[in-house]
Amino acid sequence: MTDQRMLEDPEEMRRSGYEVVDAIVERWANLRDGPAWRGATRDHLEPLLHGPAPEEGRDLKDLLDTILTDVMPFAGRIDHPRFLAFIPSSPTWASVLASFLTAGYNIFQGTWLESSGPSQIEVTVLDWFREWLGYPASGSGVLTSGGSAANLLAIVTAREAAGNPGRGTVYLSEQAHGSVARAARVAGIDPERIRLVETDEACRIVPASLRAAIARDRAAGMHPFLVVGNAGTTNTGAIDPLADLAEIASREGLWYHVDAAYGGFAILDPEIRPLMRGLERSDSTTLDPHKWFFQPYETGCLMVRDPVLLERAFRIAPDYLQDAAWGPRHVNFCDRGIQLTRIFRALRVWLSVQRYGLAAHRAAISRAIALAGGAESHIRRTPELELLAPQSLGIVCFRYRGGGAVPEGELDGLNQRIQDEIVNSGFAMMSSTRLRGRLSLRFCVLNVRTTAEDLARTLERIVSVGRRLDGSGGG
Ligand SMILES: Cc1ncc(COP(=O)(O)O)c(C=O)c1O
Repeated sequence: MTDQRMLEDPEEMRRSGYEVVDAIVERWANLRDGPAWRGATRDHLEPLLHGPAPEEGRDLKDLLDTILTDVMPFAGRIDHPRFLAFIPSSPTWASVLASFLTAGYNIFQGTWLESSGPSQIEVTVLDWFREWLGYPASGSGVLTSGGSAANLLAIVTAREAAGNPGRGTVYLSEQAHGSVARAARVAGIDPERIRLVETDEACRIVPASLRAAIARDRAAGMHPFLVVGNAGTTNTGAIDPLADLAEIASREGLWYHVDAAYGGFAILDPEIRPLMRGLERSDSTTLDPHKWFFQPYETGCLMVRDPVLLERAFRIAPDYLQDAAWGPRHVNFCDRGIQLTRIFRALRVWLSVQRYGLAAHRAAISRAIALAGGAESHIRRTPELELLAPQSLGIVCFRYRGGGAVPEGELDGLNQRIQDEIVNSGFAMMSSTRLRGRLSLRFCVLNVRTTAEDLARTLERIVSVGRRLDGSGGG
């Protein structure tokens, strides 16, 4: 007799599976009606959820009820049309189905031996990305848990390609995402060997400053080996002068990595493509399909011009994996990163593109950019609002400044209070940042559900809350 306790009967599997699908469909259908964000303190949640692991199993229906009532509601609705904070995410239904399917089939995508079909799908998806980036036919990559993991793989690959130099220095924009510095730390690069290069008014790396920093380090006996550019910074969506950076990296013999976790897929937009000229010359690029390619978390990607260098940095060939060697055309994706056991992420992207078509994905990106442009115009024509950085991609940074009576020294505090009030009301989720020492409100538009009206109403609320708080009227 087998122990049946952990095996559900097929009818119960169907019933509970349909219940989960119903819950998700219901959530999607009513997303707009709920708050964009809801959180709760530990004091609130612990009595509901904390307790010892039960010795005996419990009713699945009751458990799903608990999850749907006491767990899931207390989270950002990141795919809500007015979730404009950080970098939002809004996966397609096809990509969610693919996640469920791949979990149910429990695909192990570390080696070709154990997942030939899934590995072929990953090869295909990576080849799409390669072509979109403009990399040569030899280019490829690996899907990762996200942009942070991809940046780490890039830095380690660059370090290994440079022969792991003792006094190696790395050059990033002062606007680079925190994951780049963290990756450098994990890769054993001392913080004092990381150079934050200054940016211009539009938050883009100043090439002359980069050149000067490299020259200074060479003169001091350091070993520059890596330049990191941005195709869409997290703060403002800025795109660095990627062709200039490519030129500098090439002349200096440095690895050139572009963090395009946020903005990379905007290269599909014919108007954005020229702004990303030079990206195709990079040695590696971080992409994050769980951001602007409409995939569920965790779907990230590192693309490299030469996968041999990626594999050289990560490949270990233990005896117990000797059966997995199918020859060079059969990629063992475990050789391209730190995961041996990997989930089958590529199916999400593949199914999404097959189901809706590339044109729909491209149009969704272009539409978000246009909506952000509309928000920027709204800000420009509203005297109480002030643009703090020009719109770039789907990001707009601005603040409330009122009718001019609020002293500069009080604007940060006032904008923080506006931010808190809007978020706590649940109407929209926003996140603030700091730009040249000033607190900035910020919209990042990405979701296919977001409308011009959503943005206009959020801006109107900001002005109305601001007027009430600064005493100039409004509600
Ligand atoms: C430019 C950039 N790089 C890297 C990351 C990190 O990506 P992830 O959160 O997927 O690890 C982000 C996340 O927002 C980002 O905006």
